[in-house]
Amino acid sequence: MSYRRPRLPEVALPAMNRVHEEELALLDRLAQAFEEGEEAAIDALLEEFATHLEAHFAGEEGRMERAAFPPYPVHRAEHERIREELAQVRARWRETRDAAMLARWFFEDYTRWLESHVATMDHVTAAYLAMQGID
Ligand SMILES: [Fe+2]
Ligand SMILES: [Fe+2]
Repeated sequence: MSYRRPRLPEVALPAMNRVHEEELALLDRLAQAFEEGEEAAIDALLEEFATHLEAHFAGEEGRMERAAFPPYPVHRAEHERIREELAQVRARWRETRDAAMLARWFFEDYTRWLESHVATMDHVTAAYLAMQGID
């Protein structure tokens, strides 16, 4: 597995950028754990990542609701798809302990999705929220 740190554009809300930075730091640590083949570390980081991802998504969704952001359902649907994928790969990991499968999801599927999601959905959403005075 080769790890390339996703490149995430800055969006208009500093709080969203901070969460994205934290998530990148978690991905760095996960890449390290996969590299070292440390199952216990992968387990712990996977839990930490799942908790962080939920806070990341819920934070954006709460702001969009407060701002009555019209495309909220579209943005939320993208989050929902990733929530479901993560639940599936976590379940598969628990059953199979297939680290290559899990690493592929993180460093191919998820990172690719994150780059495009931040550049599109998050970018547009943050611009709207900033205009509405929501931080
Ligand atoms: Fe985001
Ligand atoms: Fe988002």
